[in-house]
Amino acid sequence: MIKVVHTIKEVRQEVENWRKEGKSVGFVPTMGYLHEGHQSLIANSVKDNDKTVVSVFVNPMQFGVGEDLESYPRDLEKDTKLCEETGADLIFNPEPEEMYAKGFCSFVDMNGLTKELCGKSRPIHFRGVCTVVSKLFNIVRPDKAYFGQKDAQQLAVIKRMVADLNIAVEVIGCPIIREEDGLAKSSRNTYLSAEERKAALILSKSIFAGKKMVEEGMRDSKELIKAMTDIINTEKLAKIDYVDVVDFETIEKCDKIQGETLVAIAVYIGKTRLIDNFIVDVK
Ligand code: PAJ
Repeated sequence: MIKVVHTIKEVRQEVENWRKEGKSVGFVPTMGYLHEGHQSLIANSVKDNDKTVVSVFVNPMQFGVGEDLESYPRDLEKDTKLCEETGADLIFNPEPEEMYAKGFCSFVDMNGLTKELCGKSRPIHFRGVCTVVSKLFNIVRPDKAYFGQKDAQQLAVIKRMVADLNIAVEVIGCPIIREEDGLAKSSRNTYLSAEERKAALILSKSIFAGKKMVEEGMRDSKELIKAMTDIINTEKLAKIDYVDVVDFETIEKCDKIQGETLVAIAVYIGKTRLIDNFIVDVK
């Protein structure tokens, strides 16, 4: 039976008991409203570790002014069921006051990797992500932690942070899980009206087309960005935030597609901002 706890003390107690029994611990941080994308991370953790902790916490610190903190969807009951069915052992669902006690004023920030892509349009976002993920790592102290390639920049940022700060956790990236028609699964897809849901397919369409172009030999970033931009612009409900080509490790722009390269897009469909990407390794 899965256990849901709300305090740091309880998580520490549970994990300490497991450690005494010599169990390994996997960890999946989330903001809840779980779908098959999150589920795939949890399933990987269950497969690799004796015990799995899932955190469900809509982290206020990573939302900018005017973003969707208040409207972010929540359903702990459904999340608990999904975690239990997938084999997780513990859900950590703290209140913001538990994570950010009165007087809180310490942050984990990053100078590189966060200048491009989502870091550009969401300036305080990664400071919030790095701070909360560091805190969660310190609370759970897992052997392995699982992150989706859906948020590819986040994955690169967390890997860098763990290396830079010598955090004793192995970060594991997991592939993007999609709807049958191609749309990358996201808790934010619930914001879309029926018409917008159809329009949102332009993201995966441009991603699949871009990937094919690279596989067929396209190496010039500008050319690829132009081709993908043109595809997205055929959809009248779509407004591009960015279409970019960066090195997957450093998240720096590159003119040529070479080595492990991340091709990432962020597009507004109506008021909803959606992201998608592909990673290629060109030798
Ligand atoms: P959230 O958006 O809930 O995502 C939690 C994890 O699920 C992330 O690692 C994300 O990349 C992964 N994920 C989401 N959709 C996915 C999909 N379609 N396929 C594969 N993986 C997917 O990312 C966050 O929360 C937060 O920033 C967090 C790391 C929890 C810090 O607050």
